Amino acid sequence: MRIVSGIQPTGNLHLGNYLGAIRNWVAMQEQISAEGGECLYFLADMHAISMPHTPADLTSNTREMVAALVACGIDPERSILFNQAQVPQHAELQWLLNGTARMGWLNRMTQWKDKAGKNREGASVALFTYPVLQAADVLLYQATHVPVGDDQKQHLELARDIAQKFNNDFCAEDAPLFTLPAPYIPPEAARIMSLRDGGAKMSKSDPSDMSRINMTDDADTIMQKVKKAKTDPEPLPSEKAGLEGRAEAKNLVSVYAALAGTSVDAVLAEFGGEGFGKFKPALGELLVEKLAPINQRFVELRRDTAALDAILKAGSEKARALAIPTLERTYTALGLVRG
Ligand code: TRP
Repeated sequence: MRIVSGIQPTGNLHLGNYLGAIRNWVAMQEQISAEGGECLYFLADMHAISMPHTPADLTSNTREMVAALVACGIDPERSILFNQAQVPQHAELQWLLNGTARMGWLNRMTQWKDKAGKNREGASVALFTYPVLQAADVLLYQATHVPVGDDQKQHLELARDIAQKFNNDFCAEDAPLFTLPAPYIPPEAARIMSLRDGGAKMSKSDPSDMSRINMTDDADTIMQKVKKAKTDPEPLPSEKAGLEGRAEAKNLVSVYAALAGTSVDAVLAEFGGEGFGKFKPALGELLVEKLAPINQRFVELRRDTAALDAILKAGSEKARALAIPTLERTYTALGLVRG
């Protein structure tokens, strides 16, 4: 099994990033390496230029994301951790696959439609071909599995379509070049909402810092934010169904369950009938207990630019070594002459 997954480098990381993608990556690392497989994780910095961006922020966000991944438990000795920009084979393969991908396929991508909006003429070409780079990301390594949340399912389908068409068009039937990557359903993907509004996702761009728990928050700040989190006056129900229509309560219970590694029902079995006066301090303590060690490592690592760059450099070397044979075979299959 070979898993390949990418994440766009964003700054101001918070609990939502941790309980969403990052913790899944750590869980997959443990699971897959125990089964003798391998995980390749990369920062999709080349994808980040498809939208307007500030170069200095891209640099610092890339390093910050590496610090967060390592602080959360990604082990660069066991997983291959790198950034796309240091493995030019991604961009090269994308170009080669641009000959196979069809305009019609890309036109149907919902992310393209959403992000370009009404202003398609003004959108970057990179935004349009974003899914082809994403296909190159995984096909380059002959990934067997790609973890996908709902928003990325369509991109994985496209990668499979490109691989299939390329194999059909340019390979002998008994010698396909590209592995068709299968979706890998990640262990658990918690969707964490704002502490001020249970209907909005926890986000770095929310103007209120009280809406999120940052990876840099200390214990006092975390306790304070939980105490001030929006709730309702009712006690907690003893079953999950009782949380319907109570978005804030549901979110806090979900956070507790995700951190404690149990189910919402198990949390409610313990706290059902209790008010938030009792639940919030318990949640705050659990958050501090689980996040304090991560936050401390993150804050230390984040300052150590040299160490972060060394991690990316070493990971990129390993990634290049895996990428080159497939890329060379692709050039050859297309009839391109290489020295
Ligand atoms: N587009 C993905 C996202 O925004 C990131 C990504 C880029 C990715 N390349 C990938 C994910 C390859 C999985 C595999 O979340």
